[in-house]
Amino acid sequence: MRLLDIPAIKSMLNSIGLASFYQRLIMQLEDDFRNWNKFYKSPRHAIHYKHGVIELMPCSDDELYSFKYVNGHPRNTEKNKLSVVAMGLLASVESGYPLMITEMTLLTAIRTAAVAALGAKYLAKKNASRLAIIGCGAQSEFQAKAMQAVHSISHIYIYDIDASAMEKFSNNLSADFTHIKCCNSAIEAISNADIIITATADNKNATLFTENSVSSGTHIHAMGGDGPGKTELDVSLLKQSKLIVEFSPQSLVEGEVQQLDASHIHAELWQVIRGEKPARENDEEITIFDSVGFAVEDYSILKLVYEISEELKLGTDVDLIPVIDDPKNLYGLLKI
Ligand SMILES: NC(=O)c1ccc[n+]([C@@H]2O[C@H](COP(=O)([O-])OP(=O)(O)OC[C@H]3O[C@@H](n4cnc5c(N)ncnc54)[C@H](O)[C@@H]3O)[C@@H](O)[C@H]2O)c1
Repeated sequence: MRLLDIPAIKSMLNSIGLASFYQRLIMQLEDDFRNWNKFYKSPRHAIHYKHGVIELMPCSDDELYSFKYVNGHPRNTEKNKLSVVAMGLLASVESGYPLMITEMTLLTAIRTAAVAALGAKYLAKKNASRLAIIGCGAQSEFQAKAMQAVHSISHIYIYDIDASAMEKFSNNLSADFTHIKCCNSAIEAISNADIIITATADNKNATLFTENSVSSGTHIHAMGGDGPGKTELDVSLLKQSKLIVEFSPQSLVEGEVQQLDASHIHAELWQVIRGEKPARENDEEITIFDSVGFAVEDYSILKLVYEISEELKLGTDVDLIPVIDDPKNLYGLLKI
């Protein structure tokens, strides 16, 4: 069984280049969303603690099974820990044997950003070029870089309650984007934006901005609100927008739409991608992709990473599954 640790994933990304990896991943995601009905799907299993949440996210088709272990601890950064860390596993459905265990902290940030880009490909205005990001934590640079894969982003406006997070974002991406502006408020950041990404982490029903601050034609990718009682947008803004989710049974519990009910959901993203429900219909409407993160997205990146690790011969074989001549003699393993 193959183990891909952080050096192996970094080596993969360095060999391929992040921009090319995003292109391949967005294609893989699009393909998997288009084939939505082939997946065995369920809402994730979440246990909520006073510190945060720990979740298991399983998914499979008839060939491969995947799951991710992931947490969400908004106050972790105060103790110099990440808010979100993850590990993932991919297995063969035919034998049930695990094929790969991998780090998924980096991969979660990358797949989450690729999902944002895929949503914006269908839901943002075709000529979208100005991006606002509210919340400049661990996910933020990944989001900006992925958006470049589907839209020509010329200007980025950022806002975070922590000025040092904005400085970190600007330093990390100064070579990639010429116009990055640190703003004094969320309202200032979104005032010129075609696409807004909300990526704050706080365990509460927050209102980052209200409907009258959002220009017509804007696409909002709302990803920071991803648990019960953890939202970022105002109900009146949700009500006047075209609302797209990933998987309604999970989104109604965890997404912005938990503040409303199922009748306010325009579509699940796969329906838009398959052309079964309209995407953006004009340059005036406000669209919101209320994204909480769904297990099919982890399946997509795990499958891709497994394939690339074979191509590039990356990872280490680890002895986690017994290899024995007589499969009925497991006890014999103790004697060798
Ligand atoms: N939808 C998904 O698939 C998905 C995937 C990964 C993470 N997330 C969520 O995205 C959020 C961000 O994750 P992260 O890893 O970047 O977290 P993080 O803790 O590294 O960063 C969050 C940032 O938000 C800022 N912030 C908090 N409240 C704010 C406010 N009111 N206005 C402006 N900035 C504010 C913080 O100062 C911090 O810099 C988390 O809530 C996480 O659970 C969602």
